[in-house]
Amino acid sequence: MNLHNYLMERKNMAEAALDKLLPSVLDTPVRLHEAIRYSVLSPGKRLRPILVMAGAEAVGGYPEDVLPASCALECIHAFSLIHDDLPCMDDDDYRRGRLTNHKVYGEAMAMLAGDALLALAFELIASNIDRFPADRVVEVSRLLAHASGNRGMVGGQVVDIESEGRDISPDEIRYIHAHKTGALLTASVLSGAVLCGGDELQINRLRSYGESIGLAFQIADDILDIIGDQEKIGKPVGSDVKQNKATFPKLYGLEESKKLAEEEMRKAISNLDIFGESAEPLRQIARYIVERDL
Ligand code: IPE
Ligand code: IPE
Ligand code: MG
Ligand code: MG
Ligand code: MG
Repeated sequence: MNLHNYLMERKNMAEAALDKLLPSVLDTPVRLHEAIRYSVLSPGKRLRPILVMAGAEAVGGYPEDVLPASCALECIHAFSLIHDDLPCMDDDDYRRGRLTNHKVYGEAMAMLAGDALLALAFELIASNIDRFPADRVVEVSRLLAHASGNRGMVGGQVVDIESEGRDISPDEIRYIHAHKTGALLTASVLSGAVLCGGDELQINRLRSYGESIGLAFQIADDILDIIGDQEKIGKPVGSDVKQNKATFPKLYGLEESKKLAEEEMRKAISNLDIFGESAEPLRQIARYIVERDL
């Protein structure tokens, strides 16, 4: 399996589905729909949709069947990014190589575009009722709501903000990363696997895989905030230092942070030992997550 080709193919599938499923700019309210499409369709890695599809494949499902769920995950992710960049949060001007949503559409519209994207995600999940058994659709709704809210991404963002300028403990930084980033990445893998009928053991292993790649992914993001190339990552380098954020490099230094990310990557892959070839994409994605430069 060639990872580069796999990622390109899945990314193209996700982007075509997003283009189709997002509201048209011809529909009212036009400005809201422009703001939504501006952020969601801007050039991202589409890692969450790709993980939904890879989670489905791991348990024997078909990637095409989980495209609406893939789009739902990217909508929740885009909502988190739009709000994360607001002046009241990280106050960043660039995202995915473009001006941030509030810089183009204003703060009120950015806030509302994020709100609408969260709602749209659950509409997309509910639409799965045409394709999958109702109990699986309900379970995915539950796990996505949990991963997005106070006990997931939003909870992590709260502690992230509260930790600015403070010395924090290893437990606290792990809480922040597991919640602000790990929760949605884990939910991505699980959504695909639950919809396609993964059994209890498979789901438990994929949850552990997701938690490990989630932590590794955010450690890599923290590292790229220091040594990344602005052109490549499409967002400002040094944003964390500017905001005095709690990050792995701040607590452990760059070299130790890299080692900790690699350790999580190995843990992630070891959780896939019950799967055969069908989990090869997930194995390679785990490596990509710590080796990436964007
Ligand atoms: C950025 O996520 C926010 C974090 C959780 C670190 P990505 O690095 O996946 O951003 P895109 O979607 O590729 O722009
Ligand atoms: C990302 O944390 C968390 C969410 C967007 C939920 P960061 O604040 O580090 O993400 P970037 O670096 O702005 O993408
Ligand atoms: Mg942030
Ligand atoms: Mg940020
Ligand atoms: Mg960051």
